[in-house]
Amino acid sequence: MTRAKTRIAGESPVPLATVNQLSPQAFVELVGPVFEHSAWIAEAAREKRPFATREALHRALCDVVTNSTRDQQLALIRAHPDLVGRAALEGTLTRESTAEQASAGLGRLSPEEVALFQQYNAAYRNQFGFPFVICARLNKKAAILAGFEQRLKHSRTQEIKTALEEIFKIADLRLRDLIAH
Ligand code: GUN
Repeated sequence: MTRAKTRIAGESPVPLATVNQLSPQAFVELVGPVFEHSAWIAEAAREKRPFATREALHRALCDVVTNSTRDQQLALIRAHPDLVGRAALEGTLTRESTAEQASAGLGRLSPEEVALFQQYNAAYRNQFGFPFVICARLNKKAAILAGFEQRLKHSRTQEIKTALEEIFKIADLRLRDLIAH
């Protein structure tokens, strides 16, 4: 099993046919956490059911984000915790975030590395006004640190686009955990 495929959700995957038949509320409870603290995305996609494939569901969810306002997109980006941020250090992350950060090896850093992440987080937030989002399950510590360096050189518009693309990758991996194929 590759690292990216490592299951994170605690429960067994649900068949797509079941997902298509859930009550509106149960659908949002199941699919809502695919986007960090942003269940409005699952709410907006639920009337598009039934979905023929998990990929079609992922596309519908991402379309909601793409077609939302710039303010809603920024709210989604800002709903993400910092990597090795205060919530991570205090243990108050969502279950999904905790596992994602651990899979990148961020759960066992030296004090110097923690300080480095905090400097980068602050520099990135100062520059762009939102947190640095990178799909932690697809990147290890060194790639994430290189990502900070690289992305600090970008424009804000470029970074909004990249953050949303990373969020779509995070959502895809979370959906793979949730939905049986
Ligand atoms: N913040 C930066 N990267 C990530 C990620 O992969 N998952 C979550 N939840 N928050 C992040």
